[in-house]
Amino acid sequence: MHQPILHSLVAAASLTLAAPPQKDATPSQLQNVNYGAFTQTATYSIANELGFFEAYGLNVTYLQIPNSTYGYAQLLNGGYDIATGTIDNAVNLRFNSNKNLTVIGQLDQGPELSIASIPSITDPTQLKGLALMVDSPTVGSTNLRYADLVAGHLPNGTDVYATILTYPFPALAQALPATTRPNIIANISDFIQPISSSAFTIRQAALTNTTERSVIRSFMSAMYAANQYLAASTPKSQKCSVEAIASQLNVTTDIATTAYAAATDPLTGETTSPNGNFTVSRQGLLNIIDVRSQFGGFASVPAGFNYAQAILPGTGKLIDYSITEEAIAAVNGYKPNGNCS
Ligand SMILES: *[C@@H]1O[C@H](CO)[C@@H](O)[C@H](O)[C@H]1NC(C)=O
Ligand SMILES: *[C@@H]1O[C@H](CO)[C@@H](O)[C@H](O)[C@H]1NC(C)=O
Ligand SMILES: *[C@@H]1O[C@H](CO)[C@@H](O)[C@H](O)[C@H]1NC(C)=O
Ligand SMILES: *[C@@H]1O[C@H](CO)[C@@H](O)[C@H](O)[C@H]1NC(C)=O
Ligand SMILES: *[C@@H]1O[C@H](CO)[C@@H](O)[C@H](O)[C@H]1NC(C)=O
Ligand SMILES: *[C@@H]1O[C@H](CO)[C@@H](O)[C@H](O)[C@H]1NC(C)=O
Ligand SMILES: *[C@@H]1O[C@H](CO)[C@@H](O)[C@H](O)[C@H]1NC(C)=O
Ligand SMILES: *[C@@H]1O[C@H](CO)[C@@H](O)[C@H](O)[C@H]1NC(C)=O
Repeated sequence: MHQPILHSLVAAASLTLAAPPQKDATPSQLQNVNYGAFTQTATYSIANELGFFEAYGLNVTYLQIPNSTYGYAQLLNGGYDIATGTIDNAVNLRFNSNKNLTVIGQLDQGPELSIASIPSITDPTQLKGLALMVDSPTVGSTNLRYADLVAGHLPNGTDVYATILTYPFPALAQALPATTRPNIIANISDFIQPISSSAFTIRQAALTNTTERSVIRSFMSAMYAANQYLAASTPKSQKCSVEAIASQLNVTTDIATTAYAAATDPLTGETTSPNGNFTVSRQGLLNIIDVRSQFGGFASVPAGFNYAQAILPGTGKLIDYSITEEAIAAVNGYKPNGNCS
C-alpha cells in the first residue's frame, strides 16, 4: 500500500591538490566555480558563509537548478562545473541514457525527505485518489512545489494536496501560521533505510581536463572541510553552523537550529557518509536502484545489466573518487575564527 508513496519519495528526492589558504587573495586570483544545486545544504551554507570557499581560493556562484532536465543538461554542456542532486538522477541518466555523468561523492542520505500535505490532510491514507505534486515535467523542483503547497494551489488555480519535500523546507514550514503550515505525514526513513540521496556529480570529461579537475578538487576540499566542521558538533562549531544556515537561508535562529538538527541527523543527514569522507553508501545506492527497478525505472537498460558491478567505484565508472581523495588529502586546516567568519 505504501509502495507508490515510497517510489515518489525516492524518485523526487530530486534528486585537488588544493591551493593553500588564500584569505588575502585579491579577487583576480580567485578561481570561479559554477555550482548547480537544488537546495542550499548546510555544508554549502557553512562553506559559503564561514569563509571556506575563500580559504581554498574560490569564488563560487550558486546556480539554482529549476528542474532536473535542465540541471543535468547544464552539467553535461559545461554550464555548471559541479552539481549536487539526488544520485537517483545520475543512475537514471547514466544507466538508461548512457550520459557521461560521474558521481564523486555522497553528501547526504535524504534529510527531511518526507511527504508534506496541506493542513487539512493529516494522514497518507487521506491522499487516496488525489494528485500529488512531483518533480518536473509538470511543476519543477522542490522550492516551487513548496511554494505551491503553502499557497494551496498551482499558479493556474488548481488545488494541491501534498508533495515531497527535502531539507530545508520542513524546517522553513515551522515559521508559517497554522492555517498554511504543511503537515509532515511520512518520513523516508519509515519506509527505506539507508538511502543514498544528494551526490556531488560532474561530467566525466572533467576528470581528464587539468583546469576543470583543479577547480573541482578545490571545491571538494572546501566542501569536505565545511562538512567536517558541521560534523564536529563542538559548542562553537554548532553555534557558527546555525548562524551560517540562518544567514544563508535568511531565517531565524530557531528555524536554523531545526535545519541544523536535520543536517546532522544520524540516519539521513549530511554527516552520514559511511567513512565520514563523502563515500557513497553502497546499501543506500542499492536501495535506490531497487526502488527504481520496482517501478519500471530502468526501461532502457539492457537485460542482464550488472548493477552491483556497475556501482563499484573506478575510472570510467558511475562512481569515481579520485578527485575527492586528492581533495581530502589537500585540506589546509582553515577554521572560522571566534566571530564565525
Ligand atoms: C565571482 O563570480 C561572479 C560571477 O561570475 C563575478 O560577477 C564576480 O565578479 C566574481 N568575484 C570575484 C571576487 O572574483
Ligand atoms: C560517453 O563516453 C564514452 C567513452 O568516452 C563514449 O563512447 C560515449 O559515446 C559517451 N556517451 C555519450 C552519450 O556521449
Ligand atoms: C526547466 O527549466 C528551464 C530553465 O528555467 C525552463 O526553460 C524549462 O521550461 C523547465 N522545464 C520544465 C519541464 O519545467
Ligand atoms: C494547471 O496546471 C497543471 C500543471 O501544469 C496542469 O496539469 C493542469 O491541467 C492545469 N489546469 C488548468 C485548469 O489549466
Ligand atoms: C518525521 O521526522 C521528524 C523529525 O525527526 C519527526 O519530528 C516527525 O514526527 C516525523 N513524522 C512522521 C510522520 O513520522
Ligand atoms: C578544459 O576545460 C577548459 C575550461 O572549461 C576548457 O576551456 C578547455 O577547452 C578544456 N580542454 C579540453 C582539452 O577540452
Ligand atoms: C529576509 O527575510 C526577511 C523577513 O522575512 C525579509 O524582509 C527580507 O527581505 C529577506 N532578505 C533577503 C535578502 O531575502
Ligand atoms: C574514505 O575512507 C575510506 C576508508 O578509510 C577509504 O578507503 C577511501 O579511499 C576514502 N575515500 C575518499 C574519497 O577519500
